[in-house]
Amino acid sequence: MERLTLRRPDDWHLHLRDGAALAAVVGDSARRFARAIVMPNLKPAVRTTTQALEYRSRIEAALPRGAKFEPLMTLYLTDDTPPEEIERAKRSGAVFGVKLYPAGATTHSDEGVTRLSRCFHALEKMQEVGLPLLVHGESTDPAIDVFDREQVFIEEVLGPTIERFPGLKVVLEHITTREAAQFVEVTGPNIAATITAHHLLLNRNALFMGGMRPHHYCLPVLKREMHREALVEAAVSGNPKFFLGTDSAPHARPAKETACGCAGIYTAHAAIELYASAFDEAGALDKLESFAAVHGAQFYGLPLNEERITLERTEWRVPERLAFGPEELVPLRAGETIAWKLA
Ligand code: DOR
Ligand code: ZN
Repeated sequence: MERLTLRRPDDWHLHLRDGAALAAVVGDSARRFARAIVMPNLKPAVRTTTQALEYRSRIEAALPRGAKFEPLMTLYLTDDTPPEEIERAKRSGAVFGVKLYPAGATTHSDEGVTRLSRCFHALEKMQEVGLPLLVHGESTDPAIDVFDREQVFIEEVLGPTIERFPGLKVVLEHITTREAAQFVEVTGPNIAATITAHHLLLNRNALFMGGMRPHHYCLPVLKREMHREALVEAAVSGNPKFFLGTDSAPHARPAKETACGCAGIYTAHAAIELYASAFDEAGALDKLESFAAVHGAQFYGLPLNEERITLERTEWRVPERLAFGPEELVPLRAGETIAWKLA
C-alpha cells in the first residue's frame, strides 16, 4: 500500500501547554487531527469549568488561520473537587473528561489526588452524569519499582474503584504494559485505554542507546519489548476499547537535557505518521482508521469525522529541532527519517 486515505483522526490525550508554547505546537495537532482531549495539567491546573472555557478560548485564539480543530476540554481532579463542579462541567458541553493525576506521579501532578477515597463524591457524580474519568495509572509509592507502577496501580487503586463505581466510564491513559492491556480487555465496555505512538515504537532500550537519551523519557516510562509487543497487538486488534492518544508532551530542550530532566515526548509534529509506521510494521495498516478515527469517538459518544486525510509512503527527515516560543523543542525521531508522510 503506497497511499492510505482515512477519516480525519482524533487525539484522545494531548498536552498543548499555554502561552508561547501553545502557539508553537497547536498547529502540528490541528494539521492532523479534528479534535483532541486536552490535558489540564497547566500551572496552575485547570480545576474549574470556567478555567476550562478560558483555556479553550486561548487554544482557539492560538490556532493557525483557517485551521479546523476542536479542543475537547478536561478538568483536573483534586481532593476537593465538588460534585457541583462535575455537574457544571457536564452542563457546559465543553468538558469531556476529568483527569486523575495521583499526586506526585508525573509532570505538574502536585495538585493531584492524595487518596482517591477523598474523591468518591465527585466520582459518584461523574458516574451519574456520564463524564469519563481519565486516569494516569501509576502507583506513587516510592517503594514500588518504577517499571511496576502501572501494574500496582491497577491492582490497588483502579480495580477496586471500578468495582465501587461499576457504571463509571474510565479511560486508562497511555497504557504501557501487557497487564494493562489485559485488564482493559477483560473489563466491561465502560473501560477503555489510549496508546501512544512512542509506546508502540520504542522499548526501554531506547532510553540507554549508546548513552542516556532524555528525549525518550516519559511517564509511564518505556517498558520491556514484551510489553511493547502486547501494546501493538492491542492497538491492531480491532477491539474498540483501544484508541489513539498521543500524550504528546512538549518540554523546552534545556528542561530535558539536564541533570533532572522532565518527562514527556513530543510527537505531535508527526503523530499520525508515527502510528502509521507502527501499524505498517505490524502488517496492520487496514486497522489504523478504526484505532485512530472511530473507537475513541464511539467511546466518548461523539460523531465520527467526515473529512479524510491521506498518508503517502514517502520518507522524510524530521528536523533536529523545532521552534518552541523563545526556546527549542526536540521532537521524536529528530534528525531521522519517517516512512509515512501526510499528503
Ligand atoms: O511523560 C509525560 N509527560 N507523562 C505525563 O504524564 C505528563 C506529561 C507532561 O505533561 O509533560
Ligand atoms: Zn499525558
